Amino acid sequence: SGSFHYSDPQGKQVTGYLLFSLGTAVIGSLQFGYNTGVINAPEEKLRSFFNQTWMQRYNEPISSGVCTIVWSVAVSIFSVGGMVGSFSVGVMANRFGRRRSMFLVNILAVIGGLLMGFSTICSSYEMVIAGRLVIGLFCGLFTGLTPMYVGEVSPTPLRGAFGTLHQLGVVVGILIAQIFGLEVLLGSDKLWPLLLALTVAPAVLQCILLPFCPESPRFLLINLKQEEQACKALVRLRGTEDVNKDLQEMKEESAKMAMEKKVTIAELFRSAAYRQPLLIAVMLQLSQQLSGINAVFYYSTGIFSSAGVKQPIYATIGAGIVNTIFTVVSLFLVEKAGRRTLHLLGLGGMAVSALVMTVSLLLVGGCTAMSYVAILAVMLFVAMFELGPGPIPWFIVAELFSQGPRPAAMAVAGCCNWTANFLVGMSFPKLVELCGPWVFLIFTAFLIIFFIFTFIKVPETKGKTFDEIAREFGGAPPPAASSAEDPGATSSTAITLQASSPEK
Ligand code: GLC
Repeated sequence: SGSFHYSDPQGKQVTGYLLFSLGTAVIGSLQFGYNTGVINAPEEKLRSFFNQTWMQRYNEPISSGVCTIVWSVAVSIFSVGGMVGSFSVGVMANRFGRRRSMFLVNILAVIGGLLMGFSTICSSYEMVIAGRLVIGLFCGLFTGLTPMYVGEVSPTPLRGAFGTLHQLGVVVGILIAQIFGLEVLLGSDKLWPLLLALTVAPAVLQCILLPFCPESPRFLLINLKQEEQACKALVRLRGTEDVNKDLQEMKEESAKMAMEKKVTIAELFRSAAYRQPLLIAVMLQLSQQLSGINAVFYYSTGIFSSAGVKQPIYATIGAGIVNTIFTVVSLFLVEKAGRRTLHLLGLGGMAVSALVMTVSLLLVGGCTAMSYVAILAVMLFVAMFELGPGPIPWFIVAELFSQGPRPAAMAVAGCCNWTANFLVGMSFPKLVELCGPWVFLIFTAFLIIFFIFTFIKVPETKGKTFDEIAREFGGAPPPAASSAEDPGATSSTAITLQASSPEK
């Protein structure tokens, strides 16, 4: 099963053109990962830059308290930008379409990258902070736009595998940032502004490639009613003239959502039909962030040092490599094992790893072998994350909603993700101060709660069309009481959610 053909019963569904379009879209994911990981390594360099500018302006060194404040603002304002950006995604995606939105949003990467890149020349730490904010906005928008576009152009049987490409872009971005951040590469005294500004390059590349990609056929047909254009795009994407099945499915969806063409965020909350999928989407995003994954990605170097590891930076890069490998594993498993199973497995595995990590951190004083156990536990934690909780929440939101409510749902879910990301990032250092080695037990508790929630509430979406999924939730009027149709996709009864169960 080395190629994509393994689950490709309809022959020509995976074309070079489809892969090209997906590849172009996930440059946005790469950017999100890069900017998540990039700030970790040059911490000391940035702190001394803050000090230098302070000296120039006030003729005295910056106090360590103020320096820490400036530093943490520079780190976390990224997530504040992410919250705002992700929340605006619905309006943009409906107004400009998916493709043009991606194009326009890249302007933010250029502005943010230049602000950070010229901060030393202008002796202004404010420019680093402003740049991080703008880059956060940019990344927030892309965490909605990429999964939405990918979900909409992918053939149904491969929607999960391709959906995982978003997360693959993220993890590769993190890994690149970790490697480029090494002192011998761009993490040096002189070059760190370039390290931060490098985000401009992929933005320009994506702008060059996007005009060759199609607009989402679903957007063309359902939102713009341009059937001919939609058909053309589909023919190129699928590599066959016979796109009637796809078109037919979209038309059915279009007909059913005639009344819910563009759903605003307020309407999303008001309508009972969306309550279940919205709850699931939000909980899955929270499960991703409150698992504590970014405690590892933002502070791994510190965690490894306190576990007695001599060269923590290499352990951090090791974690980045494991992270990437297991995202690829998930990509190949997700259409076979299903979303639900992998998410459960991931959350459970993370809970166990967090326990092992706690024990090893507690015992490390008395026994040096424990630092190896700690490294292993962190790697296992990361690996389990990427099996399910990493990739699935990002793409499942696009699956849980049909065309009308999708952008609004992506906005709400994305904003919850970024808010939780911000909270963990901000509070983790304080929590470590308060709880010491016990800190990961907090995440264990969350992981267990989310495991139970997933077990009870999350349906399998593997292999189902958007319309079938919406129908299970009662999101669209059921066609003549045939809601029991479920082509052997799953055997669990806990997950058959019908229109008549408006449970909270
Ligand atoms: C997911 C998370 C992100 C995290 C990354 C780690 O994309 O959304 O916050 O840093 O996974 O791989």
